Amino acid sequence: MIEVAGVTKRYGERAAVDGIGFSVSQGEILGFLGPNGAGKTTTMRILTGYVPPTSGTARVAGFDVQEHPIEAKRRIGYLPEHPPLYTDMLVRPFLRFVATIRGVPGKDINARVDRAIERCGLAPVAGRLIGNLSKGFQQRVGLAQAILHEPDVLILDEPTVGLDPSQIRDIRQLIKSFAGAHTVILSTHILAEVTMTCNRVLIINEGRIAADETLEQLAARGGKTRRIALRLARPGDGVEGAIRAIPGVLSVIREGGQDGAFVVETEGTRDAREAIAQAAVTHGWGLLEMRPITLSLEDIFICIIQGEEAA
Ligand SMILES: Nc1ncnc2c1ncn2[C@@H]1O[C@H](COP(=O)(O)OP(=O)(O)OP(=O)(O)O)[C@@H](O)[C@H]1O
Ligand SMILES: [Mg+2]
Repeated sequence: MIEVAGVTKRYGERAAVDGIGFSVSQGEILGFLGPNGAGKTTTMRILTGYVPPTSGTARVAGFDVQEHPIEAKRRIGYLPEHPPLYTDMLVRPFLRFVATIRGVPGKDINARVDRAIERCGLAPVAGRLIGNLSKGFQQRVGLAQAILHEPDVLILDEPTVGLDPSQIRDIRQLIKSFAGAHTVILSTHILAEVTMTCNRVLIINEGRIAADETLEQLAARGGKTRRIALRLARPGDGVEGAIRAIPGVLSVIREGGQDGAFVVETEGTRDAREAIAQAAVTHGWGLLEMRPITLSLEDIFICIIQGEEAA
């Protein structure tokens, strides 16, 4: 449904997006995750045809967004970072106006507007001035304008930013309800948003793709790094050296806060736990606790971002 190949966008010397490529299948919800300035908005602007790439191609539903912008745009609903809303219009007339300029046939306009109002929960405010609505309802109007022409693809740039927790939950549920019928790309800084709404995550950092995987694959990365938390009743001075000497152990760190607490980092392919337990018995350290530390998604995300920056 979406095909991006070798897309670069330069502003002067600096590349906002640097050789990005990915594809999204019909019905998928892809989360675009990355720190500020990573290139999320720029990629979305390229996909929606608002900004031309310096090089590379982007296709939506088979149409190149540069060569066939009208055909491509017809299939895209876009919620920009700052939704263009006419604050001095009432909600329903605004949506009718948008439907008209999007080329929805006159006889279909009422039905489409009603459907968008219903799907986005706008019925209670349909007769109000957009400028007087709360941020959450304005965001819903932004979503309603994006889905009005019933596009195949929805591109949502930080759809929940600035909303209160209950509005966030509502908007996430709304986005999830689009899955299947629509292909969705949403950008966010919030990892929890990706885990709650998306099937797949694309981590973007400094204009490049740092990871492109399913949530299961991302979570599984945590299992590969083996770290072990240890607590010893009688750690002597030689503990670090003795553990470091065990095959497969990479490092041993004494934790500052707790007495007798250590973190042992081991090679992913080796399980050093049995050898550590043996050493504890031999040296009489009094093993109180030994447990593998699994990385949270946050930790994994930070590792990916920092790994990229270090490279
Ligand atoms: N019109 C522009 N002119 C010059 N530089 C730009 C322009 N638009 C974006 N950039 C730069 O491109 C880089 C990527 O910006 P972009 O807005 O795509 O990031 P983002 O991932 O959406 O960040 P955020 O999370 O803050 O929204 C930034 O360094 C930004 O300053
Ligand atoms: Mg942005």
